[in-house]
Amino acid sequence: MLRNAELKDMKRIINWRNDPVTRSTCNNTDKMSYTEGKMWFRNILLNPNRHMFLYKEKVVLDISINGDEAEIGINVSPSYRGKGLGTKSLIELQQFVSTLIINCLYKI
Ligand SMILES: CC(C)(COP(=O)(O)OP(=O)(O)OC[C@H]1O[C@@H](n2cnc3c(N)ncnc32)[C@H](O)[C@@H]1OP(=O)(O)O)[C@@H](O)C(=O)NCCC(=O)NCCS
Repeated sequence: MLRNAELKDMKRIINWRNDPVTRSTCNNTDKMSYTEGKMWFRNILLNPNRHMFLYKEKVVLDISINGDEAEIGINVSPSYRGKGLGTKSLIELQQFVSTLIINCLYKI
């Protein structure tokens, strides 16, 4: 149910990123253009220390590894929030994280 994000998912992920509630949680609250989004998305896919997953096609999870720490970003498709998907996706992500040598995991 957790799969690696691919280029074909980019448009959907940018649309979720541009949701007003999601933007209110970001450091940069501006809307992301598709040109900016393309660079952002490609940089994630090419970075060996970052992993992006889709859970049940409704949740995007972004994990950045820095030494013995990791940061997680999570964004549930706006129309599927409050239904438990965020919680379930993080439980699945734990299985991936447990395969990595990480001493400290914190959520942003
Ligand atoms: C925050 C978010 C990931 C939660 O996922 P979700 O599927 O909507 O939440 P769930 O249904 O799994 O609920 C999990 C718990 O979080 C709570 N919760 C949901 N949205 C919340 C929010 N915005 N702030 C605080 N708590 C929230 C729920 O009340 C629930 O608590 P409970 O178990 O005590 O009832 C999702 O709403 C989302 O993507 N929001 C926009 C982006 C965002 O805020 N990302 C986090 C910053 S990186």
